Amino acid sequence: MSTKQFDVVVIGGGPGGYIAAIRAAQLGFNAACIDEWKNEKGGPAPGGTCTNVGCIPSKALLQSSEHFEHAKLHFADHGITADNVAIDVAKMIGRKNTVVKQNNDGILYLFKKNKVSFFHGRGSFVAAKDGLYEIKAGEEVILAKHVILATGSNARQLPGAPFDEVNILSNDGALNIADVPKKLGVIGSGVIGLEMGSVWRRLGAEVTVLEGLPTFLGAVDESVAKEAAKLFKKQGLKIELGVKIGEVKSAKDGVTVAYTDAKGAAQTLAVDKLIISIGRVPNTIGLNPEAVGLKLDERGAIEVDGDCKTNLPNVWAVGDVVRGPMLAHKAEEEGVAVAERIAGQHGHVNFNTIPWVIYTSPEIAWVGRTEQQLKADGVEYKAGQFPFLANGRARALGDTNGFVKFLADAKTDEILGVHIIGPMASELISEAVVAMEFKASAEDIARICHAHPSLSEATKEAALAVDKRTLNF
Ligand code: FAD
Ligand code: NAI
Repeated sequence: MSTKQFDVVVIGGGPGGYIAAIRAAQLGFNAACIDEWKNEKGGPAPGGTCTNVGCIPSKALLQSSEHFEHAKLHFADHGITADNVAIDVAKMIGRKNTVVKQNNDGILYLFKKNKVSFFHGRGSFVAAKDGLYEIKAGEEVILAKHVILATGSNARQLPGAPFDEVNILSNDGALNIADVPKKLGVIGSGVIGLEMGSVWRRLGAEVTVLEGLPTFLGAVDESVAKEAAKLFKKQGLKIELGVKIGEVKSAKDGVTVAYTDAKGAAQTLAVDKLIISIGRVPNTIGLNPEAVGLKLDERGAIEVDGDCKTNLPNVWAVGDVVRGPMLAHKAEEEGVAVAERIAGQHGHVNFNTIPWVIYTSPEIAWVGRTEQQLKADGVEYKAGQFPFLANGRARALGDTNGFVKFLADAKTDEILGVHIIGPMASELISEAVVAMEFKASAEDIARICHAHPSLSEATKEAALAVDKRTLNF
C-alpha cells in the first residue's frame, strides 16, 4: 500500500488544530488532522483541552452551579418557593460529560463534512525528505507538504506537589470532584482558580484562594479588579494575596499547605481538596522535534514569527504551543490565518482586539488596553463609566452589580479599551471588539441605536459618559 500524502497535516485537534484543518479543506487542500485525546472508552475525543477539560466543561459546571445558587438565594425574590434545594453532583458531572461528548461528536462530524482525514493517535515527526515531512500518525506513517502544529498546553505543576487528581487537582480533576468538598483550597487566583473556585463555592464549599502576587487580577483594569475583589469577598470567596507557598502534604483525608502570608507569618491551610492553577506550559511531548530540527524557545514553546512560521520550511504552529495568550479563540484565529497563508492569502490576526472573559459571577470581560497600561504608555485618554444599577434590564434581571467602562483617545476619541464587569459581559464585549476592529470612536457607539431594555444600553451609556453626557445616570 502506498504512503498517504496530504497537502496539509495538522497535529493536534484542539480549537487551533481542528479549525485549521477545516479551513485548509475549505480552501481546497487535501487535509488531515491527528489527535490523540481519548474518551473514557478509548475512542477519539477531538477538541483538545478546550472541549475535554477546559472551556466547555468549565462553562457547563458554571451554569449548573449558577442555577443552584439562584434557586437557593434568588428565586424567593421572584416569589418562587424552592424548598430543600439540593445538588446531585454525579448528575451535574454526567451532564457536563454529555455536553463534552456532543462537542467531540460535532467535530468528528465537521471533519467528515469537510473531507478532513482524521487519525486518532499520536503525531510525531519521523524525518524531512524531498520537500515533504514524514509523520507518524498513530500506527500509520503519512507524508505532508505543509504541517501545522497545534499541540496545546498542559497544567503547570507546583514543584513538590504533583497532581494526583484525587486530592491535588489540575483543571482536569477540578472538573470531576465527586462530592462537594467541605473545604477547598486553590493555589493561583487566575482565570481557572476564580472560575473553578466559583463553581465549588456556589455548591457549598468553603473556598480559600492563595495567590503569590501582591495584586489581585493584575492584567485586568484596576477599577474592574477592585470591584471584582469586593464582590467575590461578599460572596464568601477568601482570597489571600502575596503568599509564598511552602510544603504541600497530601494524606488520605486531605491536603495541608504550609505558606507564608503577605506579612511574613507562617500559616497552614488544611483542605479536603486542593486545585493548583498557576498557569499552563506549552506541550510538545511526543512531537519528536529533534527529528527535523524544530526550534523551541526557552519556555518550551515552539518558536514562531508574527505569521506563525517556525524555523522549518512549510511548518507552522498555532495556539497554546506558541507565544501569546492561551485562549481558544486566539488559537482558532491563528489556525484560520495559517491555512489562508498556505493558500497564498493574507491571514489576519489582530492581537490588539482579542477579547478576554472570566466567567465568574459577575462576568468580567475586556478588550484593548487597561487604564493602568494607558498611563504607563503615556497616552492621553478620556474615561467613561456606566453602572448596571442604572440599567433597566439589569434591574429586571435582578443583576445590577458592576459597570461598563470606556477608554478613548483624548484627541481622536478612538476607543482604546472597553472593560466590563457585570451580567453577560461575555456577550456584551463583542460590540466593543467590532468597534475596535473598525477603529470606531466612543461617539460612534454613543450614536448607535441600542435595543431597549437591554444590557447593551449600558455600553452605549458608557460611551456617552466619555463625553460626560449619560442620559440615565
Ligand atoms: P489544545 O486545546 O490543548 O489542543 C491540543 C490537542 O493536541 C489536544 O487534543 C492534545 O491531545 C493534542 N496533542 C498534543 N500533542 C499531540 C501529538 N503529538 N499527537 C497528537 N495529538 C496531540 N480559553 C478560552 O478562550 N475561553 C475559556 O473559557 C477557556 N476556559 C478554559 C478553562 C480551563 C479549565 C482551561 C484549562 C483552559 C481554558 N481555556 C479557555 C484555554 C483554552 O482551553 C486553550 O487556550 C485552548 O484549548 C488552546 O487550543 P489549542 O488548539 O492550542 O490546544
Ligand atoms: P493564570 O495565568 O490565569 O493564573 C495563574 C495565577 O497563579 C496567577 O495569578 C499567578 O500569579 C499565580 N501563581 C503562579 N505561581 C504561583 C505560586 N507558586 N504560588 C501562588 N500563586 C502563583 O493561569 P490559570 O488560571 O492556570 O489558567 C491558565 C490559562 O488558561 C489562562 O492564562 C488562560 O489563558 C486560560 N484560561 C482561560 C479561561 C477563559 O478565557 N475564561 C478560563 C480558564 C483558563
